[in-house]
Amino acid sequence: MAGTILKIKWLTIFMFLGTVFSALITSPMNTNAASQNFYKLKIPLGLDEEAFKVPQDNPMTREKIGLGRLLFFDKRLSANNTIACASCHIPELAFTDGQSVSSGIHHLQGGRSAPTAINRGFSEAQFWDGRAPMLEDQSIGPFANPIEHGFSNHDELVAKISMFDGYKKMFKNVFGTDNIKKEHVGKAIASFQRTLISGNSPFDRFDYDGDQKAISESAKRGKILFFDKARCNLCHMGTNFSDEKFHNIGVGWDGNALDLGRYSVTKDVKDLGAFKTPTLREISKTAPYMHDGRFATLEDVIAHYNKGGVKNPFLDNQVIPLNLSRPEIKDLVAMLRSLEGEGWQHVKVPTEFPQ
Ligand code: HEC
Ligand code: HEC
Repeated sequence: MAGTILKIKWLTIFMFLGTVFSALITSPMNTNAASQNFYKLKIPLGLDEEAFKVPQDNPMTREKIGLGRLLFFDKRLSANNTIACASCHIPELAFTDGQSVSSGIHHLQGGRSAPTAINRGFSEAQFWDGRAPMLEDQSIGPFANPIEHGFSNHDELVAKISMFDGYKKMFKNVFGTDNIKKEHVGKAIASFQRTLISGNSPFDRFDYDGDQKAISESAKRGKILFFDKARCNLCHMGTNFSDEKFHNIGVGWDGNALDLGRYSVTKDVKDLGAFKTPTLREISKTAPYMHDGRFATLEDVIAHYNKGGVKNPFLDNQVIPLNLSRPEIKDLVAMLRSLEGEGWQHVKVPTEFPQ
């Protein structure tokens, strides 16, 4: 059954590529837009290949991913040449920035913490409030954000990229035209982001391969707590530890800086203060935690859940006091730390950019 689905998926991809190639060959405009190599992503142990989303109109090719990587790291793609995506999504910090809230252009601060850019291919809606329905949309949002890359609009971004003949050549090769559109930028960066993966962690080797030595006894006890007494898997479920839904767990209801969260997208009262369940993969590397970066440590996070979150009229009814003891909290932290995986460390910062 799974095999059949896989075959159908492959077939669609090949048929699509076939169409693209024949279009390129027959169109005299695009004689240079040839040689694209299909990119086969290796999905590490513990992740679900079937859940990996690549839109039909944006197949992954080596050339497109290479272009997306350059765009992701290029500081020239901001109003004053100082900010790249990688300024807030730093490879060594598992593509976060270590800040409670991010600083963008002119050191302006937003109200939210930068989530990891890892395992985005397993997610549908992007951002804490899910306002970008696809990674392609997410991948161009920050350029026109006044406190991130600082362009007034996407036309300014496209004009800046088009100043560099090196980029024009690459866009022509990948998209068959050097008349660059913001959608091309989104497709290239999204393709690059899909290659940032985390799996095959010690937890996976224990859970899937039964390797008893992969994780500590404490982490093994933590695993049992995670799925039972601590109730974490009610929301952090599945291979990417997220139900891809939005919940109010009370973050922000104990102060005066309330973020409306998912409500700003749906205008549905039940979404007030609800945020997307984040993945827990690489969680030991992505402190501080929560949409406002309020917790410095995983112990602080668990203390929040242990007391039943923060009471408010919209608190998710799955968040209740847990009565976890100190040793149990330690075990849970050990389990979370065993989610350090691989599949993103290969990314190198480019040393040269197209001129
Ligand atoms: C100034 C810092 C900053 C810059 C620059 C920046 N980001 Fe982000 N990024 C953030 C913050 C903060 C959020 C959370 C915003 C929100 O959810 O409202 C975020 C969210 C994201 C997410 C969503 C992850 C998820 O789990 O939903 C992705 C993916 C991402 N950024 C990729 C990018 C890309 C690609 C670029 C460049 C085009 C970029 N970021 C530029 C700070 C930044
Ligand atoms: C009702 C659903 C729900 C349950 C149950 C739940 N979580 Fe969460 N978790 C979320 C949501 C939603 C967020 C983001 C909330 C925010 O920022 O406002 C989150 C955030 C986190 C974060 C911070 C992630 C980051 O990138 O900043 C960690 C760590 C975490 N949860 C661990 C746990 C653990 C451990 C448990 C069990 C004790 C647990 N969660 C139970 C929904 C849940």
